[in-house]
Formats: sequence, structure tokens, C-alpha cells
Amino acid sequence: MRHDGGFLFALRALLPLVTLVAACKPPPDERQHMPQADPAAGLAAIERVGCAACHAIPGLNWPKGALGPSLEKFGDQGMIAGRLPNRPDVLAHFVRAAPELVPGTTMPAMPLNEKEARDVAAYLYTLRAK
Ligand code: HEC
Repeated sequence: MRHDGGFLFALRALLPLVTLVAACKPPPDERQHMPQADPAAGLAAIERVGCAACHAIPGLNWPKGALGPSLEKFGDQGMIAGRLPNRPDVLAHFVRAAPELVPGTTMPAMPLNEKEARDVAAYLYTLRAK
């Protein structure tokens, strides 16, 4: 007499579903993959508009401002400003127009065009603890 038939059947039916759900959450490297953007151009833009006046940013030794959070391990973070999902499209929007996404934030809108903002985001995703 088999008592586990129903259980095994359910397991077999659910397994592909579980695999599918797991596949929807790729590792951070893939989530932050920006093949069309140029991290080196991003660093140049970061320097030009002066993000380091308020942030510690690897690659720039000066001025290492402290008004904003350090971006030293930004690529490892799950959230932007503690409330937005850390995804390429959201980050590219945030770095050029933070107050549009987080009303009342002290992070100002920055003079970057859309391409520069994507390059900046790509650079920020290279910043990891390793
Ligand atoms: C006038 C100071 C100032 C400047 C200039 C500035 N920021 Fe910020 N930034 C902030 C502050 C303050 C926060 C925290 C905002 C919040 O939590 O609402 C912040 C938050 C951020 C965050 C989210 C950090 C986290 O830990 O979630 C990123 C990313 C960021 N800034 C990138 C940039 C980039 C890139 C530039 C240049 C294009 C820039 N910032 C220019 C002040 C600044």
C-alpha cells in the first residue's frame, strides 16, 4: 500500500515551478549587468559633476565628502537610499534626478544626460567588497 503517492505527485508538479521562481532572481552580478554602458566614462562624469563633494568614491582620492553615504561598496547593496530597488534603470534615474524618486531627499539632481547617468550607474556597480 502506498501512502506517499500524493506527496510525490505534488513534488513532481511543483519542482519545475520552484526552479522557475529561482531563475527569476539572478545573482547580483547579472542583475547589475549593463553591457551598453561604459564604467570608465562613468567615472569621468562623476569627476566632472563633482559627486565626490558629498560621497567617498573609490577611484577618486579627493575630496571624499561625507554629506552623503560612502559609495565604496555600493555594488553590494540591495537598495538605493534604503528604499529603491538597486537596479540599473532605477539607479540611472536616481543619480541624475534623485528628488523625482525620493521626494525630500538631500541628494540633489545632477547635470548628467541619460547616457552619462547609465555610465555612472555602471561604474557604481563595479564598487564591491570583493
Ligand atoms: C550635495 C551633496 C551630494 C552630491 C553632489 C551627490 N550626492 Fe549622492 N547622495 C547625497 C545624499 C545626502 C544621499 C542620501 C540620500 C537619501 O538617503 O535620501 C545620497 C545618496 C546617493 C546614493 C545612494 C547611496 C546609498 O547608500 O543608497 C547614490 C548611489 C548616490 N548618492 C550617487 C551620487 C552620484 C553618482 C553623484 C554624482 C552624479 C552624487 N550622488 C552627488 C548627497 C549628494
